[in-house]
Amino acid sequence: MYDLIVIGAGPGGYDAAAHAGQMGKKVAVIEKDRVGGTCLNVGCIPAKAFLRSSRLYRECGEAKAFGVEIDAFRFDLPAVVERKNRIVGTLVRGVEGLLKRSGVEVSNAHARLVDRHRVQVGDEVLEAANVLIATGSRPVVPPIPGIGLDQVLNSTSVFELKKVPSRVAIIGGGYIGLEFATFFREIGAEVVVLEMLPQIAGGCDGDVSDRLLQTLKRAGVTFNLSCRVVGIEGDTVSYVDQKGDRKTYAADGIVNATGRAPVVEDLGLAEIGVDFSAKGVRTDDQGKTNVPGVWACGDVTGQHMLAHVATREGIVAVNSMFGRPDRARYDAIPAVIYTHPEVASAGRTEEQLKAAGIAYNKAMVPMGVAGRFLIENEKGTGFVKVLAGAKYGEILGVHAMGDTASEFIVAAAAIIEMQLSASRAGEIVFPHPTVSEALREAILQVGAKTS
Ligand code: NAI
Repeated sequence: MYDLIVIGAGPGGYDAAAHAGQMGKKVAVIEKDRVGGTCLNVGCIPAKAFLRSSRLYRECGEAKAFGVEIDAFRFDLPAVVERKNRIVGTLVRGVEGLLKRSGVEVSNAHARLVDRHRVQVGDEVLEAANVLIATGSRPVVPPIPGIGLDQVLNSTSVFELKKVPSRVAIIGGGYIGLEFATFFREIGAEVVVLEMLPQIAGGCDGDVSDRLLQTLKRAGVTFNLSCRVVGIEGDTVSYVDQKGDRKTYAADGIVNATGRAPVVEDLGLAEIGVDFSAKGVRTDDQGKTNVPGVWACGDVTGQHMLAHVATREGIVAVNSMFGRPDRARYDAIPAVIYTHPEVASAGRTEEQLKAAGIAYNKAMVPMGVAGRFLIENEKGTGFVKVLAGAKYGEILGVHAMGDTASEFIVAAAAIIEMQLSASRAGEIVFPHPTVSEALREAILQVGAKTS
């Protein structure tokens, strides 16, 4: 009898299992593939490894501006894939080590709930006081004729590319579509993004979405917004553009980046009465489902499909099931799109504040106020925007575009989480010279509007 069986060893599942193991609980993890999940094997980590190589390749072309002459360089895709595989391998071994050190048993099999305390694992049935569903998500396949063709890549198969395509059509201008648009453009491909919404990076703050669009356009990416993809035949994508005209684009690389859907099938959820739909398993803020003893965390809940949210939700579920008070909060979740330039946010967007009728002040400063930004980004543009409550000056949202906003957005998340006002946050000492000083300047400016 286990204290906990975790189904799925992505960031939600493996961190939860290790945490429970470290609490002295008897824990098993069932994973049918490699530990690490989508993020580590075919998601965040491989994508960022690819983007590091494409950035270096682009920077080689721009090196002269930094006073460095490079006579010849080329992009070696197999070597890039090999480097990515090495990094993934190291991290997978790290997760295996973590689980082992935490005393967690790992089974390589498909798991299916038999009832609320029993899980079918291959030929065996294991029993546990608690079951945590952490099965993640998979790429969605929208109802577009031809999207299922072998040559259409998704966010998993794109990492198996053998040759750099010269013309790439990306369906979907969300996180995945934009990161791949950056990658393919930087390594010299012609890139067209086909997005059905009128903006890219839907859900982001409007200023971020607009400025990122302008910047990626300047880098040579073509965008067709408010556009409907109607079919794929061979290497040609057909779409109806903003004006209602039917157009085609011939591409030797087509990427489906239209979103991800929770993995809820073949788990026995309906049979044991778990409340779920195609949009995910319903949970409360402790990760409880409607069935006592059955918990869920991460992408399978269909809410915030981010690895770091999955990790936090898994820890919250484990604490809650073993009597440690804890709850997941979503007010200050940092999110990053690793385009070049990257964009990073925490807290509420201006559109959300308007919709909620919350009075606010805002300050927007160019990243160039930070000397380090000018040093690091010869051609870069960027900004930091801070939103603060009109009356008390509490920081409500921070949205930034520019490298390396991803590395300091956690400071913004901490400020929001601790409910600091702009005047209190303005007392924090930021290291000099760093790009983060642009955040400090924006905090000071919004603070001046409230006092
Ligand atoms: P997404 O939901 O962010 O974007 C999908 C986009 O495709 C949307 O803008 C949608 O309007 C568009 N779309 C859908 N159907 C379409 C159609 N038929 N024609 C044209 N456009 C269409 O999903 P994405 O980018 O696939 O990412 C999936 C999940 O993975 C996201 O929830 C994201 O949070 C997560 N992720 C996070 C990353 C990060 O943190 N840096 C990186 C990659 C993914």
